[in-house]
Amino acid sequence: MCGIVGYVGKENAVPYLLDGLSRLEYRGYDSAGIAVLTDKGIETEKCTGRVAALRDKAEKHNFSCNLGIGHTRWATHGEVSERNAHPHVSYKGDFAVVHNGIIENYATLRDKLKDEGYAFLSDTDSEVVAHLLERDYNGDLISSLMNTVKKLEGAFALGIICKNLSDTLILIRKESPLVVGKGKDGFYAASDMGALCGVAEESITMNDGEIAVITKEKATFYLSDGNEVFRRFEKSNLCASSAEKGDFPHFMLKEIFEQPSATEHTYRFLSSSGTSSTEELSFLPSLLQTTDRIYIVGCGSAYHTAVAGKYVFEKLTKLPTEAVIASEFCTSSIPVRKNSLCIFVSQSGETADTLSALKKAKEKGATILSVVNVPESSIARKSHKVIYTKAGPEIAVATTKAYSAQLITLYTLAAFSGYYLGVINDGDFRYYMRELSCLPKKIKNILERENEIAEFGKLLSSESSIRFIGRNTDYAAAMEGALKMKEISYIPCEAYPAGELKHGTISLVEKGSITVALCCNDSIFKKTANNIEEIRSRGGDIILITTEKHTEDVTVINRKIIIPDTDDLFVTLLEAIPLQLLAYYTAKEKGCDIDKPRNLAKSVTVE
Ligand code: G6P
Repeated sequence: MCGIVGYVGKENAVPYLLDGLSRLEYRGYDSAGIAVLTDKGIETEKCTGRVAALRDKAEKHNFSCNLGIGHTRWATHGEVSERNAHPHVSYKGDFAVVHNGIIENYATLRDKLKDEGYAFLSDTDSEVVAHLLERDYNGDLISSLMNTVKKLEGAFALGIICKNLSDTLILIRKESPLVVGKGKDGFYAASDMGALCGVAEESITMNDGEIAVITKEKATFYLSDGNEVFRRFEKSNLCASSAEKGDFPHFMLKEIFEQPSATEHTYRFLSSSGTSSTEELSFLPSLLQTTDRIYIVGCGSAYHTAVAGKYVFEKLTKLPTEAVIASEFCTSSIPVRKNSLCIFVSQSGETADTLSALKKAKEKGATILSVVNVPESSIARKSHKVIYTKAGPEIAVATTKAYSAQLITLYTLAAFSGYYLGVINDGDFRYYMRELSCLPKKIKNILERENEIAEFGKLLSSESSIRFIGRNTDYAAAMEGALKMKEISYIPCEAYPAGELKHGTISLVEKGSITVALCCNDSIFKKTANNIEEIRSRGGDIILITTEKHTEDVTVINRKIIIPDTDDLFVTLLEAIPLQLLAYYTAKEKGCDIDKPRNLAKSVTVE
């Protein structure tokens, strides 16, 4: 989703602005732009489409400038066009602004400004900020900024430059993330750490409500009441290598292959030595004493980990557990109470729907535990307890390694919880931990069969729709398989609990229609196998994913992918690997933009 960059320093601003925007491309966007301060005043360049096109346009100008801001836009208000792309410049050209988030009262503000004679060039909610900044400027920067900010409702991050403040970059954060980096030649701003890779040696994550006024020499931070606040730059552990594809044609494939290490690091980080004492989860025993109900909340793939996690928590802790879609959590009367444990799952830690649900649960007095991949992210900062998944930065929009790291986190958390609650005994606990510790190796084993799975992917590329079926933990995998396929191949897909097929959806089965059947959960193998036969007897084709244990039972099915055995509770994680590869190779065969699928954003910062 939208990304912000900024620079002020001794060097030309343009190379960093463009490189920074390229590093934010993974967030998803449809247009981009920069504004720089030159001796002619504020100059902008914008374009629809990719940052590469913006680079070509911007380089022709040969801008000479030490101050600038840049933006990748994911359209919310107004069509995708240069006119609506950021930065937006104020009426007289005194201010330029880039904005992430939504100004909820923009329509009222725009009407007022129009009555005062301000002309609007875009359909965006963001343009009001540029005009307000100009109108409210009274010579005293901080009080003028505060005047503008207090008129704005909603969540926003703003990057601002002003014609009359020749070396000043202004940043304002309210809920949408912003980080400030310090490098050898100046200061950098960005929506996330990834854009600071290789340039900033130290960084500060801005707090909610803060204003930063940054010159070549120093960065000064102010609280929302205008008082200065001391912030210390911390050494950043930024590594450019995660932003490189290496020998892989796509980030997605690279990240699929990083899953053995992502799951292994996450599991080891949580479980220490596999014994029942773990530093990372030392908060659990006292937390569980008061917990009578668990909610696992997330969006997209993170919600699918919640569905898989629900089965595991229910079995291992015997606590009622519900998986809830974050946006639904916000709008329903779910009985969250003081004794509820709400687990929020998010790769980015910035998803607006999840953040909003978190706030609601917090207001109701629930304990908030988050499972997040990005340190210092908003969800991590707002939670009572955080568990960081160790997947490392994920660049492809469609999540793979962060998803599997979330799953192994929930599994491990459930095993420890069950043990601390006395639901599972010492022997069972050790059994589950052993199973978990073997998962990374089993993932590796599946990845070695990439070529075989790729052939099925090619086959699926000509389908006009695909069904994914499974029961229980297999169903959780089916949901993720369908989403992955939709996200990157644009083929309409639907996931059904296998037992539900006969209650309606079976009417869609006809000769040659395709179903991907997940049949790895041993306890329900026979039931799903019956559903598969119901499809086959109506002429439907099957691609079956099952486990080694069942190889002999499925000889009648030609197209199958056999994966290693594991406990029924954990099959979802192993099933994800062939499903991700299927989606990848289907999309590749179709020539889709795999790492940046149309209309999607990696970090969805609007509700
Ligand atoms: C977006 C992405 C999905 C992702 C979801 C949740 O919709 O396109 O792939 O699963 O957000 O993201 P989160 O960062 O909260 O895990």
